[in-house]
Amino acid sequence: MCGIVAYIGNNQACPIVIKGLQRLEYRGYDSAGLALLQNNQLNIFKTKGKVSDLEQFISTKNTESTIGMGHTRWATHGVPNDVNAHPHYSGSKNIAIIHNGIIENYAVLKEELIKSGHSFMSDTDTEVLVHLIEEVQKNDQCSLEKAIQEALNEVTGAYAIVVMDKNDPDTLYAARKGSPLVLGIGKDEFFLASDATPIVEYTKNVVYIGEEEMVVVNRNNGFTLKTIQNVEKTPYIHELELKLEMLEKGGYEHFMLKEIYEQPRSIKDSMRGRLNAIDNTIKMAGVKEFEHKIINANRILIVACGTSWHAGLVAEYLFEDLARIPVEVEYASEFRYRNPVINENDVLIAISQSGETADTLAAIKLAKEKGATIFGICNVVGSSIPRETHAGSYTHAGPEIGVASTKAFTAQVVVLTMIAIYIAFKKGKITESRYHQLIIELDKIPDKVKHVLETTNEQVKQISDIYKDAHNFLYLGRGYNFPVALEGALKLKEISYIHAEGYPAAEMKHGPIALIDENMPVVVVATNQSAYEKIVSNIQEVVARKGRVIAIVTKADDTIKSLAEHVIEIPETEEPFSPLLSVVPLQLLSYYIAVALGKNVDQPRNLAKSVTVE
Ligand code: M6R
Repeated sequence: MCGIVAYIGNNQACPIVIKGLQRLEYRGYDSAGLALLQNNQLNIFKTKGKVSDLEQFISTKNTESTIGMGHTRWATHGVPNDVNAHPHYSGSKNIAIIHNGIIENYAVLKEELIKSGHSFMSDTDTEVLVHLIEEVQKNDQCSLEKAIQEALNEVTGAYAIVVMDKNDPDTLYAARKGSPLVLGIGKDEFFLASDATPIVEYTKNVVYIGEEEMVVVNRNNGFTLKTIQNVEKTPYIHELELKLEMLEKGGYEHFMLKEIYEQPRSIKDSMRGRLNAIDNTIKMAGVKEFEHKIINANRILIVACGTSWHAGLVAEYLFEDLARIPVEVEYASEFRYRNPVINENDVLIAISQSGETADTLAAIKLAKEKGATIFGICNVVGSSIPRETHAGSYTHAGPEIGVASTKAFTAQVVVLTMIAIYIAFKKGKITESRYHQLIIELDKIPDKVKHVLETTNEQVKQISDIYKDAHNFLYLGRGYNFPVALEGALKLKEISYIHAEGYPAAEMKHGPIALIDENMPVVVVATNQSAYEKIVSNIQEVVARKGRVIAIVTKADDTIKSLAEHVIEIPETEEPFSPLLSVVPLQLLSYYIAVALGKNVDQPRNLAKSVTVE
């Protein structure tokens, strides 16, 4: 949560920082701020609200400076207001800081600092850190660099920080632990940011700052990379593959709609170079090296949060059904705190779009300590989770900016599907002809998703208009489509703020059926597959109680057509691949309801794209 960006070079810092903050706004959007070094003054401008409010706030002010840093906040400590917004000053106002993360021991440190005479303006943990840095510098009479290192060695928690010094207009100091930080290297200019999106416009050369590493960037002398224990490191300069147009709406009203519509392409990108329907093979470099571990695993543990956890549930069906490997799927936040039994014959798959989710990272570390093999499925290249894993596969869905995850989900499911089919074949659990049959059908999925988008969009829009004022929704599914029901409900909740619950269809009669009346829309994923008759019975049970059924069915399903109030048709496919098609109308449904209700689709209240706090 929170986005940070900083600039030093020959150009004006303010427009670069503001534009960068706009790109990072998906990480938090309750307040924003900027620090600039101007005529030997360290000036801070900050306000509650979005980056556009900050832009408005500074529009009449002098913002001339070639060194600056900014922050967009998702509040953890202290309500969102002007005072709690970053940057924060030290007591003397000689130092300023921006911070993404949480200083867990801030209360103890604050108490000690207060005893030493410090007073604080805000309720934030971040202000404590900048006071601590100043206190260390004063007590030890050391350089700011040394003081930052010592202070960081005293704090517990997570941070990506940038520090500016009033007395040094040529230097930026930055460090990270647990929160992401990227350095961009331009021609006589440098950028620091939470991810590469604010940087890509100016340079393709970046260094992903590692855990407990610090970078000191000097306008004239370049940068040095070291650990916060002061051990020099050799930087590895990556070349970004990210393209600027990927970060723009491209004519769509919202990023979420753009990302829903990108799915035929993003699914293809996830398959590119891996699934080959001409020679009928799946080749995944990340899997190859560790395939013996997966094939011989006692069980697969899957940890993730939110939508990624739903992708994990689909994977449970895939791996057990096709590869006959026992799978346990767990919320990372529960797994990490419940003393789970893990051993070296377990393979843990961590799924995360951002690659930064704090709970998922902690679950990985725990399983790694206990000897499990860790496999990561992430979207953001260079993020923290891929660095903690033994092996992994990127999903290659491209940047996902809408807070509600859409194309990342289908990309995760596609990658997991390819792995499951590959392992099933290697393990001898499916025949060669079945292997080929699955590959040929999987290859058709991007076109089928395109077809779903083309044929259901208008209908879903109309249905949204009918049900937009409902206070509750129930989503039902069975088998492979049970996780899709959960995902449909989550999408609706997060962007339209309508209460929705996802349930396995058969569980309905064990409780939720009591909720059904003529005001309850019930979305049923009822494709024509193994439990078809059962789900038809479930629909009948809903209809008998006057529930209003919106059914996602396989094309030409006359039975459900005669029962449900609305029927949304999707093409036939292999049952394991049906989530990739059935989820699409549910994404559209939540999108159009949120739009009809006038909600902020891309930046729903209280949420952030990257959850780097537990
Ligand atoms: O980046 P991750 O995939 O690890 O994020 C996990 C969840 O925070 C995320 O899926 C969240 O639930 C989304 N807002 C869902 O749309």
